[in-house]
Amino acid sequence: MTAQDETEVAALDAATAERELKRLAEILQRANIAYHTDDAPDLSDAEFDRLRARNLEIEARFPHLKRADSPSAQVGAAPAAGFRKIRHQKRMLSLANAFSDEDVREFVQGIRRFLNIRDTEETAFTAEPKIDGLSLSLRYEAGQLRYAATRGDGETGEDVTANACTVDDIPQQLKNAPEILEVRGEIYMAHADFRALNEKQGARGEKTFANPRNAAAGSLRQLDAEITRTRPLRFFAYAWGEISAPLATTQTDAVARLSQLGFQTNPLFRRCRTIEEMLASYAEIAAQRATLGYDIDGVVYKLDDLALQDRLGLRSTTPRWAIAHKFPAERAWTVLEGIDIQVGRTGALSPVARLTPVTVGGVVVSNATLHNEDYIAGRDSRGQPIREGRDIRVGDRVEVYRAGDVIPKIRDVDLARRASDAEPYVFPETCPECDSPAIREPGDSVRRCTGGMICPAQAVERLKHFVSRAAFDIDGLGAKQIEAFWRDGWVSAPHEIFTLRERFGPGQPRQLRNRDGWGEKSAQNLFDAIEDKRRIPLARLIFALGIRHVGETSAAMLAAHYGDWESFRAAMRAAADPESAAYAELISIDGVGPVMARSLVAGFAAEAEEIDTLAAMLEIQPAEARESDSPIAGQTLVFTGTLERMTRAEAKARAEALGAKVAGSVSARTDLLIAGPGAGSKAKKAAELGVKVIDEEDWLALIGAA
Ligand code: IVH
Repeated sequence: MTAQDETEVAALDAATAERELKRLAEILQRANIAYHTDDAPDLSDAEFDRLRARNLEIEARFPHLKRADSPSAQVGAAPAAGFRKIRHQKRMLSLANAFSDEDVREFVQGIRRFLNIRDTEETAFTAEPKIDGLSLSLRYEAGQLRYAATRGDGETGEDVTANACTVDDIPQQLKNAPEILEVRGEIYMAHADFRALNEKQGARGEKTFANPRNAAAGSLRQLDAEITRTRPLRFFAYAWGEISAPLATTQTDAVARLSQLGFQTNPLFRRCRTIEEMLASYAEIAAQRATLGYDIDGVVYKLDDLALQDRLGLRSTTPRWAIAHKFPAERAWTVLEGIDIQVGRTGALSPVARLTPVTVGGVVVSNATLHNEDYIAGRDSRGQPIREGRDIRVGDRVEVYRAGDVIPKIRDVDLARRASDAEPYVFPETCPECDSPAIREPGDSVRRCTGGMICPAQAVERLKHFVSRAAFDIDGLGAKQIEAFWRDGWVSAPHEIFTLRERFGPGQPRQLRNRDGWGEKSAQNLFDAIEDKRRIPLARLIFALGIRHVGETSAAMLAAHYGDWESFRAAMRAAADPESAAYAELISIDGVGPVMARSLVAGFAAEAEEIDTLAAMLEIQPAEARESDSPIAGQTLVFTGTLERMTRAEAKARAEALGAKVAGSVSARTDLLIAGPGAGSKAKKAAELGVKVIDEEDWLALIGAA
């Protein structure tokens, strides 16, 4: 999916994505606290879900940018207290987005390439409205509704069975259904019902809802199902989770089967044989949008053939075989009151627009991202004009928009209403936090503070990252405590966490238990929790170091590759020489390019002392070979030559799904080379190194696809 609109996930550059993930983490964390702790939600459920989905999408596209404090890694967010949690037997997925006809063509062609479908062959897709509600999973066993669960974070949702039972569109019994059947679809509220509900609520002095989606969410997630019963919820079925027997061989027939079983399915569902038919269906649905009587926010296309869906498989949270073609973004004009600069863990300076609050598509927006200094100045990363070169100045009237699930952005500026004394915005060349020079490397759209650990913003963000969930995950030591310890000079570098007990434990002149908010017990617990984490898996440690470009996934790959700390540490030292074998090995690891390699080497050089001091305090557990039943689990594979039965992309996806790593070049660490016709230097190298070589037939047999 490529998008012309630079705001879509597919078109985000890494720097923008990184900033967005940071903002999302902040917004969602704040929302979590507001919701769970303060009981005063600052975001609607719907908006919360949207932002979370957005976060997942960006993470799926940029796994290396996934933050330690990623909202996707946090369970607290989803199931609210009061509802039992239900682990979905099959993940509830979200959808990648398309924002233009071009994106849809790319999607279809990408699938055809992946599956190697000939130009003369057709691939049918289905098209149907994307309902703007909340997804729900209904599990039936032997025809009986066993439970209904919300999506939650996709893995675990909330048990809303009692509430679901009050919805007319949800049958409690099915005839002739497979033994196990999970039906998935959307709970929504019709416009007329929404208006009537709000009138009733208003008349009684009770809470009214901002939009039908919020009303549906609020109604479904009632602890008292009798309240849900009075709320007119509806349900469309459009997908399924676990099933004991296939519903059909195509999406079209499967949906027809759901309808026969007694579910409402959408009347605008169409089967399309060509891209033109898909786009015509989009136009048809868009034309009916205003008179449908319920909210939709786009059109979902799905590959019709279920066997092909299976071959395409999933990315981390979205299927490769479906996409949501979103209706155009919602927009509004407001005033840009100021521009703040936030400094992140890696020193990136991110401009944030402070706006006069304005409602955009039902949500009040007071902040928006301004991407980077070029964006403010009216040019893109290649120096080409954007907005016809119009820059953005404080005091300007600006157009804010939200495209689909995204964080608000500034789209345009009204020059006619610009004050005559408005000054062009001067992007700071020093860090607002530490005054160090902030510089831009050639080719980087982001300006970064060079203060490193002397920059309080970077230092404290690095520490927060270090203790975050996917890193050291120390109970009782979160962002708040880190900030306080940092402010008082108790902890200024990661290794100092492990000397806290020595310095502030029992018998010391200053003691943790005497600090505000701490006591004997909590202090003891923290010291214990810290001790507990001296034993740390290698991958977590690598991730915790917070080296730029090294996310959780890359950290895991590095750990798997080098096995233990000593080998990894030695490699980082040796790879400082870009001519070295160690450097060549580093960049041969799948997923590690020169950018990450340079960042690793530089990170280790700059922080050598801290890293070694820290490592000496820890017991670093070597990486374990991945457990899996597959014959290629844990192996490193290389493909070369032409594959005839599947494309490279499919082969790679298959191999990874079976727990193997796919590398780009043959080395002593390669376990297996799959060589198709036309294999050249890689096959030769494999022969020299004694690496096992197999052909495509063997490969298919190996993965059980022969
Ligand atoms: S299919 C296989 N079809 O959109 C992927 N989703 O952005 C499962 N949604 O979480 C989703 N209408 O809540 C599908 N016709 C439709 C939909 C639909 C609305 C929602 C669903 C999903 C979200 C993804």
